[in-house]
Amino acid sequence: MSKEQRLGEIIAEHHGREGPLMPILHDVQAEFGCVDAESEAIIAKGLNLSRADVHGVVSFYHDFHTAADQRPEVQICRAEACKARGVEALMTDAEAAAGERVKLSTVYCLGLCSVGPNARIGDDLHARLDSTRLTKLIESA
Ligand code: FES
Repeated sequence: MSKEQRLGEIIAEHHGREGPLMPILHDVQAEFGCVDAESEAIIAKGLNLSRADVHGVVSFYHDFHTAADQRPEVQICRAEACKARGVEALMTDAEAAAGERVKLSTVYCLGLCSVGPNARIGDDLHARLDSTRLTKLIESA
């Protein structure tokens, strides 16, 4: 399926509801990692809006990106069980290790609550993290 076809499906899923633009933009961002110029044009056409209307919304909200973030991503669980097991004390070192090269994302529960603090890179889950292990993980991402 082409990107244009998938965008058409996303638009159709929300078309007809009140205020379809925001849910469409969220779905496009989730699926493609950004709402680029091509997507803006297709969404605008699908909703009978101007491209400027769509771009205005995309550029207003910090949640939306006009280009995909190419950096490696490390997701760190900061939900209650991982907090209770000390994840917050690891964050300063994690942020220092990540710098601008690695994108750190916060997630809320990776399903391994009893063995936290936990993180995920791609499909790989990493449990029982301490500062040293998390720093190495980020540096190797
Ligand atoms: S709270 Fe962190 S894995 Fe569930």
